[in-house]
Amino acid sequence: ENAPVTVTVTGAAGQIGYALLFRIASGDMLGPDTPVRLRLLEIPQAVKAAEGTAMELADCAFPTLESVDIFDDARKAFDGVGVALLVGARPRGPGMERGDLLEANGGIFGPQGEAINAGAASDVRVLVVGNPANTNALIAASHAPDVPADRFTAMTRLDHNRALSQLATKTGMPVSAIRRMTIWGNHSATQYPDVFQATIGGRPAPEVLDQHWVEHTFIPTVARRGAAIIEARGASSAASAANAAIDHVRTWVHGTPEGDWTSAAIVSDGSYGVPEGLVSSYPVVSREGRWEIVQGLELNEFSRARIDASIAELVDERDAVRDLGLL
Ligand code: NAI
Repeated sequence: ENAPVTVTVTGAAGQIGYALLFRIASGDMLGPDTPVRLRLLEIPQAVKAAEGTAMELADCAFPTLESVDIFDDARKAFDGVGVALLVGARPRGPGMERGDLLEANGGIFGPQGEAINAGAASDVRVLVVGNPANTNALIAASHAPDVPADRFTAMTRLDHNRALSQLATKTGMPVSAIRRMTIWGNHSATQYPDVFQATIGGRPAPEVLDQHWVEHTFIPTVARRGAAIIEARGASSAASAANAAIDHVRTWVHGTPEGDWTSAAIVSDGSYGVPEGLVSSYPVVSREGRWEIVQGLELNEFSRARIDASIAELVDERDAVRDLGLL
């Protein structure tokens, strides 16, 4: 049996939290041999609801769940954290401008970054789920100067999984036959789901797919899937978002299969012309517990233009939070 890992989940009483906690506790994320110490962070008004979830966690009698503690103070919640899942965020309210949204989230992710800096384990892994995820991760990382930047990531795995599913449905192939799918850029409507590097049943995806379908159906379907779920379900994606968070951390800890890669938003080292320091989604492999950007891919003009558009949006968001004094 491995040493126990402290997993802190923010927004624990929210809908993603409810779908996520039971899977972490059951061992889906870190494996059946790693005991989990859960620390839940909520705002004071939601602590009672988090306590209800903790009662249900207890009632599952998971052998992998060592303890559950609930906090409304980030410093305490992140003490000793090995895996931090930053799910709680301020949603965009009616009439809220983008600047207001970024500022409200800066007020959450700045202090959480400081708390991680103060208390985290030396090998901490941080995944930001709460939107705007890439820029929230940038803010958190900038408040944690003692934690290596490569420990901060944002989630585009849900977009990646949505893309795999769309391709599988379109081609009649199993999801497992699709490799080297990439989401580039921001987790937003400007994201670029890139099939040009992908293979389907061992064949290059562009040979299998019709370019018109890719451009006019596939890309918008993946990019707008979140809105389509809200319209159908009357609430935003929760179980699929939780599943993607589990996938992201599991891959980060346990690695990517040979011959394949996945998508994650990580701090750019300048690869593929993305300004250094931006948190952008890339094709990545995980080796020995670290993300590495897949290098040497040739990007056609279509891909280049789409990536550049999403990067421009990330630059705008970064400049806006910098102007607000949040970095
Ligand atoms: P929700 O509104 O059901 O839950 C959010 C929870 O966060 C609430 O319980 C709230 O009390 C809590 N919270 C707010 N401020 C907090 C703080 N400072 N500290 C701790 N907890 C705090 O929202 P839901 O559906 O669970 O979604 C959470 C976030 O995930 C949203 O920002 C959503 O946009 C984002 N999301 C991201 C996806 C991605 O692919 N990256 C996919 C789906 C959702």
